[in-house]
Amino acid sequence: MCGIIGIIGKSPVTPHLLECLKRLEYRGYDSAGIATLESGLIQRHRSEGKIHNLQERLKTINPQGHVGIGHTRWATHGVPSERNAHPHATEKVAVVHNGIIENFAELRFMLEQKGHVFTSDTDTEVIAHLVTDYLDHGLTPQEATSKALKQFHGAFALALIFQGHDDLILCARRGSPLAIGLGESEMFLGSDALALAPLTQKICYLEEGDWAELSRETFTIYTAEDLPVERPIKETFLTGAMIGKGNHKHFMLKEMLEQPTVMGDVLRAYSNPSTLAPSFPEFPVAAKDIKALRIIACGTSYYAGLTAQYWIEKYARVPVTVSIASEFRYGKPPLPQGGMALFISQSGETADTLAALQYAKDQGQMIVGMVNVPESSIARLSDVVLETHAGPEIGVASTKAFTAQLMVLACFAIYLGGHRNILSEEESKKLFQSLMEVPEAMAHILSEENTVIKIAHALSEARDVIYMGRGTSFAIALEGALKLKELSYIHAEGYAAGEMKHGPIALIDEKVPVIVLAPSDELYGKTASNVEEVIARKAPVILITDLEGQKAFEGRVPLSLSMPTLHPFCLPLLYAIPMQMIAYHTANLKGTDVDQPRNLAKSVTVE
Ligand code: AGP
Repeated sequence: MCGIIGIIGKSPVTPHLLECLKRLEYRGYDSAGIATLESGLIQRHRSEGKIHNLQERLKTINPQGHVGIGHTRWATHGVPSERNAHPHATEKVAVVHNGIIENFAELRFMLEQKGHVFTSDTDTEVIAHLVTDYLDHGLTPQEATSKALKQFHGAFALALIFQGHDDLILCARRGSPLAIGLGESEMFLGSDALALAPLTQKICYLEEGDWAELSRETFTIYTAEDLPVERPIKETFLTGAMIGKGNHKHFMLKEMLEQPTVMGDVLRAYSNPSTLAPSFPEFPVAAKDIKALRIIACGTSYYAGLTAQYWIEKYARVPVTVSIASEFRYGKPPLPQGGMALFISQSGETADTLAALQYAKDQGQMIVGMVNVPESSIARLSDVVLETHAGPEIGVASTKAFTAQLMVLACFAIYLGGHRNILSEEESKKLFQSLMEVPEAMAHILSEENTVIKIAHALSEARDVIYMGRGTSFAIALEGALKLKELSYIHAEGYAAGEMKHGPIALIDEKVPVIVLAPSDELYGKTASNVEEVIARKAPVILITDLEGQKAFEGRVPLSLSMPTLHPFCLPLLYAIPMQMIAYHTANLKGTDVDQPRNLAKSVTVE
């Protein structure tokens, strides 16, 4: 939810701190700040709003320190403001923090009783004062930090610098990711490998409970029990260039346009090129012995799970239950012994999904993690990891990661169906071959920008928009509504088309655009009846359909988008694209911040 960075360098670190913070801005952008050591003294510079504001402020100051930490914030405790921006500091220590210190109030009270003066409303500030309190009692920075860490309840990734210690950064990880980056007589740390990509590809991830001390030449990691421990050093493939916008106006646009390529990458990753059959890693429980599947996720990833439920129940006859992670983790449902639990997460760091995974693990489930970040926490906690191979996704609104999830899940449905003898070899091959047509069909849809822009104009002044569909189109309708909400801030709801007559149709009048996903599948006729019902109530209907559907409603709906006609199995992958494009262009018309919508962050690492 926030991004943190730290550098012990050979030259002034401020430009690198700012460059890395820009790459972390997708994690939160309410405020930003840095702290450096200038002649051994802590200097702090913070700004409300985006990192651009901090950059402008620093142009006239130009700190020269060779040690520093930085932070970009998504507010949890304390409104977005300069006084609540990180780093938080005393004269002796400065700290940046991602997470929540749940017992901060009692710690703050205790410290105020001892004379500490707080200047912010944040939970983070207690870290600086508690460590300082131990320093005041003669402890070293390492001793003071180690003692303080043991008193914190909650989740954190944090980094600290200390007055007079020009060759030291301390950092710690509990519940929020943190990576050390190795340079040449320089050392780095950051919330993820993306942030460090411009500086190094040598990455060492801290594990749960670890804390570490960094100097220019080396680093030492300690467990929560203060025992030295080795963690693997990995080479990432990420480079600074890979996560640039190129010549696209937005990261989201770049990532939407990458989808045809990503589909090909996923198909290659999950197929046996000679037999054209899906191939998956060995599961601890054989596919034929899986009694039930529970899918748990949040947001767009949850809608991927809903789509998969239709596929897996239809083609593999495995009972599937899909749960919202934040409901699942507190609902604590009974789970069948030996069941499979699939966790879908682009970031692999979503707090609710992580907590749900821990519950399922404790209940003896086989844990499958479907992630786009292979070094993520969910990946590390899973028995089997299904990587989505979408490449870094920077835009807060998920696009290529979503369709990559769908493609992996579609392959998985065929894999399960074949291994459970529900699908014959011929049926499996036919379904898989239909998936091979998706990349080209997606590219065609992405070129239909003119029609989409007309649809965006029809929506841009609406206060309420309804999306509806049946079967897998219902799941994609839900995703379409979320995209419009999170990008353009227009209220939108997705409904099962058959559900409209049970209440929601009361919403319909000439001011409420209704976007209908009506592919030529087995449910088209039923959906067409639902279209008639809303036309009869004067709703401006926008039809996302194919040539047959366009003909059937020619002249009776203000707008329609013609979609390619592929095997119905593939349609969710295709119909997801106009959902993204409509939201993107509507947001553009409204002038909202497409890559960093208000109040959101790319990775929700707090509950
Ligand atoms: C999707 O556009 C949103 N950014 C959000 O719903 C997201 O899908 C959700 O927060 C889950 O994130 P994850 O896939 O990284 O777990």
